[in-house]
Amino acid sequence: MSDFYNQINRNALPCHVAIIMDGNGRWAKANGKPRAYGHLNGVKSVRAVTEAAAELQIKYLTLYAFSTENWNRPKEEIDALMGLLVSTIEAETATLNKNNVRLTTIGDTKRLPEPVYNKLMGCIESTSANTGMTLNLALSYSSRWEITEMVRHISEDVKTGKLTSSQIDDKIISSYLTTKNIPDPDLLIRTSGEYRISNFLLWQIAYAELYFSSVMWPDFTKEHFYEIMVDYQKRQRRFGKTGEQIETGNENL
Ligand code: IPE
Ligand code: IPE
Ligand code: MG
Repeated sequence: MSDFYNQINRNALPCHVAIIMDGNGRWAKANGKPRAYGHLNGVKSVRAVTEAAAELQIKYLTLYAFSTENWNRPKEEIDALMGLLVSTIEAETATLNKNNVRLTTIGDTKRLPEPVYNKLMGCIESTSANTGMTLNLALSYSSRWEITEMVRHISEDVKTGKLTSSQIDDKIISSYLTTKNIPDPDLLIRTSGEYRISNFLLWQIAYAELYFSSVMWPDFTKEHFYEIMVDYQKRQRRFGKTGEQIETGNENL
């Protein structure tokens, strides 16, 4: 095994890793191929990273696979991505079960074409009893969509008396988001050298560690993932406190 792999402290891994998988199109272009070829090769990286995370016993892996804004891409590209989603789910469901991985999804999945939606629900159902890693796919997802839905649901519940406005706090808000059953990400990775969040988990990443990699997603390997784990473990997460408070566990310092 690699150097990075051996440096990983198994007792200090992030509980939840979220990834903005970016750069498929540019990778394809650089290889003189159509964008769909980049997406096809991106699936290999999804497989590799899912395997790496599951082996490390990371509890939650959220992958940004298709954003609300991605609906504005050319129809041909959307069709290619949807087709890839169906074929990947078909090909990988057995492996997910074998590895005890549970599939979940966040996003406005009702917007997905029916065959894609049905495949997705089938895989979620088939893997629902698995107790290992949760692989959470963000599909037709954007944070502003999610936050808008949350505000709508909270206001309905206040109107019907299920909730009073004074009860609303950060825990209540989190419980109305699509990630209600998942802890906030400890680490957010974005590939392809872009330094932006692109409408992803804006509420949930309040205290996530951010890692920006210049690697295009189809070139992203287990090794890159291990390297990021090592980098993450070198950081001190202070959550607003002082370094001394964190190091000694003494709140009065
Ligand atoms: C990420 O790669 C995959 C999706 C957004 C679906 P891109 O398709 O955004 O690739 P670039 O950013 O154009 O290179
Ligand atoms: C973000 O990538 C969405 C996904 C990775 C699914 P984009 O490539 O769509 O992001 P922008 O538009 O360049 O910010
Ligand atoms: Mg992109």
